[in-house]
Amino acid sequence: MNVSIIGTGYVGLVTGVGLAQKGHKVFCVDKDIKKVKSINSGVPPIFERGLEPLLDKLVKENQLTATTDTVEAVKSTDVTFICVGTPSLSDGGIDKSFLVSASKDVSQGLTDKESYHVVCVKSTVVPGTTEDVVLPILEGVGLELGKDFGLGMNPEFLREGVALDDFMMPDRIVIGGSDEKTKEILTKVYENFDSTIMVAEIKTAEMIKYASNSLLATKISFSNEISRMCEKIGIDVYEVMDGVGLDHRINRDFLNAGVGFGGSCFPKDLKALIHFSQTIGVNPRILEAVIKVNEYQPIHAVNILEDMIGRLPGKKIAILGLAFKGETDDVRESRAIPMVKELLRRGAKVVGYDPKAGNNFLREIVNIEIAESVEKALSGSDGCIVQTDWEEFRTLTEEDFLAMRTPIVVDGRRVLNPDEFSRVRYRTIGR
Ligand code: UGA
Repeated sequence: MNVSIIGTGYVGLVTGVGLAQKGHKVFCVDKDIKKVKSINSGVPPIFERGLEPLLDKLVKENQLTATTDTVEAVKSTDVTFICVGTPSLSDGGIDKSFLVSASKDVSQGLTDKESYHVVCVKSTVVPGTTEDVVLPILEGVGLELGKDFGLGMNPEFLREGVALDDFMMPDRIVIGGSDEKTKEILTKVYENFDSTIMVAEIKTAEMIKYASNSLLATKISFSNEISRMCEKIGIDVYEVMDGVGLDHRINRDFLNAGVGFGGSCFPKDLKALIHFSQTIGVNPRILEAVIKVNEYQPIHAVNILEDMIGRLPGKKIAILGLAFKGETDDVRESRAIPMVKELLRRGAKVVGYDPKAGNNFLREIVNIEIAESVEKALSGSDGCIVQTDWEEFRTLTEEDFLAMRTPIVVDGRRVLNPDEFSRVRYRTIGR
């Protein structure tokens, strides 16, 4: 099939590359000419493992092309996936402005198109958005639903860092469609994937995305709450969750307690679902608690550290890991942000180290020194918190921490091996 993708962020580009690799002819559209040129030269404007060689191959094979021209792309294709951002507004709701402008551009491409076209939203949008926002724009230029076009919603479940693998080998593919023809066409797009395809109504597909992310976030906050009880009674939450996770109805994934969840998805999607829930008159008690627990965890790590080293004014604290998780330079909603703010508020000096995210972090908080290496960050520090589960930190030994003025460590992600420590004072969350 011929497919156009609007937006070449990490969802759009991974979707484009994945669908092209599965044999579709793909046109990626972006307003940013620099991104378009970069894609056409085989270089992804974002970093995702495995993306560059595959993009380069697909561009050379003419299987994927990028353009700034939405109208042309839509005209030459059968299906359009809208993959634009839906960032948070200050009230927690989602900003639909990119969705609106993309839909308007797509509608222009459809006005003098003879054949049936499916417009499918992949952006994360609260239930009702596809039908309340996208549909009227398409109908507004005289197009008829079911005759000229079909409307779909196909949420993404991609994790940053392993997005390409998640796209190529998904646990499930969820397709929402306005009618049978649309559902059939979207199912055909994914016919070469070895995965369960679930077909549903559009609102249901929209809700599946939010419910999935919220439940994963709930598992993390749940484990964090249990972890604080474990600390009080001298047992280990990781061992508890190993036992809990053996129940196949629960499973062990996303039960790792620590400094909490960050990233561009969980916090934003939870806030959007809370906002949505309130607009329809449902009190979102669990979701609000999930956020509260998550906001407390980085503060809890600072409390543990203060408990070990005493009052913080004038103390130099090293934060290992500034990204929201390992293997990425993304600092959006990283737990390092509230953690560093709290340390500064309590009068500490902070030095941070991250293999990739140092410069990005400086855009969030300027009042921090960025070290070039773990050694430089630890050297002369009075305490240290491990915030991100980078592979690099797993190999740190007692010797590395003995370079500190006082070797005191709070491991927020269970990456260190305390069995090897005899002179380092070590504590972790949940044990
Ligand atoms: C998440 C979901 O996992 C994807 O399925 C979803 O498609 C994506 O959001 C999205 O909506 O686009 P992502 O934000 O890339 O993916 O990152 P995750 O690997 O899920 O981690 C999120 C956060 O939870 C990280 O800060 C991580 O450190 C934390 N986490 C994860 C824990 O604290 N404990 C755990 O047990 C697991």
